[in-house]
Amino acid sequence: MKKIFLLLFVITFASCKKEAEDNFGQPKTDETAVAVSGEELFSGKGTCTACHLPDQKVIGPSIAEIAKIYKEKNGSIVAFLKEEAEPIVDPSQYETMKTNFAITKQMSDAELKALEEYILSFSK
Ligand code: HEC
Repeated sequence: MKKIFLLLFVITFASCKKEAEDNFGQPKTDETAVAVSGEELFSGKGTCTACHLPDQKVIGPSIAEIAKIYKEKNGSIVAFLKEEAEPIVDPSQYETMKTNFAITKQMSDAELKALEEYILSFSK
């Protein structure tokens, strides 16, 4: 009999704990995501400037070229950075870009959106 009470106690406690996490987890992630600009993400945490310069091809295509093609084809940079869309700028070099998805997949939707807006701002 004692064992059953103990079991009930554990189950009740465990389900309360889960509810608490559900309630408090959600808004927190949204709040932390807003503060950083696309430009800061691009040159900072994203390390994108290592391969992408504004007007000149280095290892990757220039930001202006990416912006031009994404605007023309109405593509989603957010989807590309989540590895949910095919490359449309330079598929032959896709393997090099792919190594960065480890970083971009850690980013929130708000951060990816900020990166997308920053890139698209280069299209003339
Ligand atoms: C190690 C070098 C390297 C880094 C770092 C890098 N890229 Fe790239 N990127 C490339 C190469 C090479 C391509 C061309 C291949 C391609 O088009 O997928 C590319 C292509 C792209 C494209 C065009 C994709 C398409 O549709 O073809 C986007 C958008 C992009 N990069 C964004 C970023 C962002 C944002 C970051 C930082 C989070 C980043 N890149 C970091 C090398 C890099």
